[in-house]
Amino acid sequence: MRILLSGGAGFIGSHTYVELINAGHEAVIVDNLYNASDRVFQRLEAITGKPVVFCNADVADKAALSEVFQKYSFDAVIHFAGYKAVGESVVKPLEYYRNNLDTTLTLCECMREYGVKRIVFSSSATVYGMIETMPLVETMTSAGCTNPYGWTKYMNERILLDAAQAMPDWSIALLRYFNPIGAHESGTIGEDPVGIPNNLMPYITQVASGKLDHLSVFGDDYNTHDGTGVRDYIHVVDLAKGHVAACEYLMEHQGAEIINLGTGVGYSVLDLVNAFQRVNNIELPYVIVDRRPGDIATCYADPAKAKELLGWQAEKTLDDMCRDAWRWQSQNPNGYRD
Ligand code: WQD
Repeated sequence: MRILLSGGAGFIGSHTYVELINAGHEAVIVDNLYNASDRVFQRLEAITGKPVVFCNADVADKAALSEVFQKYSFDAVIHFAGYKAVGESVVKPLEYYRNNLDTTLTLCECMREYGVKRIVFSSSATVYGMIETMPLVETMTSAGCTNPYGWTKYMNERILLDAAQAMPDWSIALLRYFNPIGAHESGTIGEDPVGIPNNLMPYITQVASGKLDHLSVFGDDYNTHDGTGVRDYIHVVDLAKGHVAACEYLMEHQGAEIINLGTGVGYSVLDLVNAFQRVNNIELPYVIVDRRPGDIATCYADPAKAKELLGWQAEKTLDDMCRDAWRWQSQNPNGYRD
């Protein structure tokens, strides 16, 4: 297969690129580097031993994207490109709706014009909203998103589901990620947030490296086993392999499917902190503070559909996630800016 990876220079995209090449496929990365570094390409070439095909373009730019579709014939598209900071989306909703919807609509228009009928979309468990029943199953109706970022994921799913209705020969996989963490075992590619990390694991690794003073644990009064928030952490390499499995599934099946990509196991903030300390033999200073507004107590997946449909399941452990995340951070204290 030859796959177009929109936003393929980012955290999930770069890891998916590696797994596609490892599986014997070809990939073309289309990215405007808004939230990624071009230094990732030399790392990808070192890991795969092959030159990276990269097109520097904004996926929402119809003319630029058309040139890519004219130049290459694609079997499928994996659509990662989009803004992804929950807090930022609350402050800049217009930019989030404009960018995250335009990229999807422009991509689908190019696909239709050039006869590409398969797309894997990077969705998120955030589309479930504040559902309290666990585990989360794909057939559940969203309780409503809690931020503009989540709504853009929800709306993009709606766009693609309606496209599948109108074009029954299209094949569409909407992958709902839970909490991707960790890094490739080489330690040469990983999560590289700009500024102070919003998410737990990159914050932990920057405390461990001394870049940040201590971790603030957002609340220990939730109805969970230790009072701190519970999430379904999934190794980014497992997540990447899920995308390869989804592409291969779409080669044989038409229609649209919503699929959870999670482990099905929930771990608390303190479970993660303790595992990180144990695995890496590093003491992590933390303080308990108030809850973060908008957070839910518990969120984890029912991963059965991915196993049944794609023959995929997460294999890496929480220890693997902690070990690999630390290797990336310790080898790249300033991410790709070193
Ligand atoms: C995890 C847990 C926090 C930071 C978000 C997005 C979601 C997806 C994944 C894109 C929670 C706690 C965190 C900190 C803490 N992103 N925490 N101190 O909120 O589950 O999901 O990222 O698709 O859409 O919403 O992830 O890593 O921010 O938080 O105590 O400094 O860690 O309260 O319980 P979250 P997170």
